[in-house]
Amino acid sequence: MKTLPDRGYMTGFGNHFASEAIPGALPEGRNSPQRVAHGLYAEQLSGTAFTAPRAENRRSWLYRIRPAAMHGTFAPYAQHRLHSDFSAGPVSPDQMRWSPLPMPETPTDFVDGLYTMAGNGTPEAQHGVGIHLYAANRSMQGRYFYDADGELLIVPQQGSLRIATEFGVIDVEPQQIAVIPRGVRFLVELPDGEARGYVCENFGAQLRLPDLGPIGSNGLANPRDFETPVAAYEDVEGEFELIAKFQGHLWRADIGHSPLDVVGWHGNYAPYRYDLRRFNTIGSISYDHPDPSIFLVLTSPSDTPGVGNMDFVIFPPRWLVAQDTFRPPWFHRNIASEFMGLIHGVYDAKAEGFAPGGASLHNCMTGHGPDAATFEKASGADLSKPDVITGTMAFMFETRAVIRPTRQAVDAAHRQRDYQACWAGLRKHFAPKD
Ligand SMILES: [Fe+2]
Repeated sequence: MKTLPDRGYMTGFGNHFASEAIPGALPEGRNSPQRVAHGLYAEQLSGTAFTAPRAENRRSWLYRIRPAAMHGTFAPYAQHRLHSDFSAGPVSPDQMRWSPLPMPETPTDFVDGLYTMAGNGTPEAQHGVGIHLYAANRSMQGRYFYDADGELLIVPQQGSLRIATEFGVIDVEPQQIAVIPRGVRFLVELPDGEARGYVCENFGAQLRLPDLGPIGSNGLANPRDFETPVAAYEDVEGEFELIAKFQGHLWRADIGHSPLDVVGWHGNYAPYRYDLRRFNTIGSISYDHPDPSIFLVLTSPSDTPGVGNMDFVIFPPRWLVAQDTFRPPWFHRNIASEFMGLIHGVYDAKAEGFAPGGASLHNCMTGHGPDAATFEKASGADLSKPDVITGTMAFMFETRAVIRPTRQAVDAAHRQRDYQACWAGLRKHFAPKD
């Protein structure tokens, strides 16, 4: 089942990497020589406008056995659970929560196992996100995928993934993430047989590390912990499929060879992985909570300074020491909209109902916060000792625009229609004569 060899990683975020699977594959001193060594073709892959400012400019040069242009014509591919149609009909301001997406009962690979939960914006306008789940029980066989609509932030929840890309191989397990840039071709193998997780398809500006401001030059996700694969290729011919997501829908074309045939590449537009357990978590050591932006891993900025198209935030293990403070997240309403998932363990604002693999949606100005059991426990807790939260990893895709659930997500059998009941037990404590 193995495709490309796993040849290791290079560390750093957004670096100009250079990697070759055969010595001498990369030309020296120029990007597109008259003839490339070993009979390779030169091809540029641009991830930003040619004229984007240098600090944001992303592109790579690929030296490959055949150019990406070589494939048959595309025809619609009938996988209708994955799409980018978030515009139909009214959207309810209800709090919503879902149990985990059931595993498929028939052989289903990563592409066929994608299921769109919600989203906003459009691929056409290059802003917003698609939020998907995947549940798969078969490796992709003889088929390759790319997404022209957005960058893919893949968050495994159950089972590891072996993602063989044009740039090399990325292995990820739960509590690691992988980011596949827009347009990069890849396939997904399932070393554990079954896999489930979350995908944020980012139509907007590419994910980057946030500015740290007064935090200083260290902390949160450190650049050296991001890993980009070393070049690896396969030289394989056969009757294969190329699946593309383009303008909201899937397409398929015949391809007579593996497109994972890049022998060498250089540039700063490449896939990477990150281990969420390496996040340097920062919090209050006096009282109160910093806003959850303190847990920001990666951000896709919008056109408005300080306002994210999408922020990827995690809730990792951490110490809670704040005094005279309600230690779990307090009740809140935000202008931003929040889609949460749980990779494993228990999220500290909910006593039950939010299971690993599940999801919740709290949209713009919709009230939410700890459930009744969590409130009772935390408001009476002994604060003379620190609490430690262990064995958990929750995350949030937070967006500027309202996150519109899809019809299939609203109607899904695994949606918890009684979610609001988790706040019904909050008692009235008001006693003005005390
Ligand atoms: Fe929230």
